Amino acid sequence: MARALVTGGQGFIGGHLVKELLVRGDEVVVLDLPGAPGRALELHGLGSDVELIEGDVSDRLVVDRAVAGADSIFHLAAQTLVGPAAEDPVGTFRSNVAGTWTVLEAAREEGAGAVVVASSDKAYGPSESLPYREGDELRPTAPYEGSKAAADVISRSYWKSWGLPVAVTRLANVYGGGDLNFSRLIPEVVTAYLADREPQIRSDGSPQRDFLHVSDAVFAYLAIEGALGEGAPRGEALNAGTGQPRSVREVIEQIKAATGSNREPDYLLDRNPDGEIDQQYVDATRLTRATGWSPNTSFEEGINEAVDWYRDYGDPHK
Ligand SMILES: NC(=O)c1ccc[n+]([C@@H]2O[C@H](COP(=O)([O-])OP(=O)(O)OC[C@H]3O[C@@H](n4cnc5c(N)ncnc54)[C@H](O)[C@@H]3O)[C@@H](O)[C@H]2O)c1
Repeated sequence: MARALVTGGQGFIGGHLVKELLVRGDEVVVLDLPGAPGRALELHGLGSDVELIEGDVSDRLVVDRAVAGADSIFHLAAQTLVGPAAEDPVGTFRSNVAGTWTVLEAAREEGAGAVVVASSDKAYGPSESLPYREGDELRPTAPYEGSKAAADVISRSYWKSWGLPVAVTRLANVYGGGDLNFSRLIPEVVTAYLADREPQIRSDGSPQRDFLHVSDAVFAYLAIEGALGEGAPRGEALNAGTGQPRSVREVIEQIKAATGSNREPDYLLDRNPDGEIDQQYVDATRLTRATGWSPNTSFEEGINEAVDWYRDYGDPHK
């Protein structure tokens, strides 16, 4: 039986990935912080099916235990929220950058067969030239963006320097049921409409993002891991997204339609907040060429799935 390690497996994307790895028959180990807020294993009812190692991903002793015997490693653990990352840059760099080299060092010594590391489209930073392509310069400006860019570059150096079969994912904005990070747009808007209150929007609604459903994100991870075994994307970064930018206003309209609400959101600013990028979307051609991957979930289907999931979950503010 293949053994897979998912760091950050108690989080939103990690939890969905764990579920899929179990479906394909892997033995799964999760490394995450004690009391991780995402509680994905509990949410998906997977607690008894995985080996959970609680600790910090920058702690080499903990990571060595988690990596032991792993054929595949999916490194997703990170401080993922832009605001808290800016308030605690040192903690963020420790988790996101030192955590990444700690996993890579342990993987190198273990001789892991495939390592997939989560970078982000945020690593590109603001750009006049869109969609983002993998050859574009990484020009991060905020601590979260910088931490992801650093993890991205360090990871790829492990293939060139030591032949570790590693690839890096640069995912667009991922959404879907199971995301308990309520400061993110889609969880906030869906749960607000389901509770019949006005969503609080941190902009004027104009910023545009590329929204990828979590099931397509998980299949991107699995497709990259599969291709790494055959050699294809080793040492590469791969974008994953729909290639279609949607404004915050469009997202809200879709969620209004799916929930049947007619409330108007509360736009807290009449502009885009300082430091927030106006428009981001990615070109995923390289990933499609390397693995055959393409997104399967339409935005309408994805939002309907998320609304159904949060309806079952209930009001998080009660
Ligand atoms: N959600 C998105 O839109 C998106 C887009 C692009 C990239 N990513 C990347 O994908 C990965 C997963 O994102 P997510 O949305 O599931 O985030 P999440 O915040 O839901 O999950 C991250 C998990 O990492 C854990 N973690 C944080 N610091 C840790 C540490 N020091 N030691 C051990 N565990 C730690 C957290 O407890 C959490 O369970 C992250 O690396 C993120 O940067 C996410």
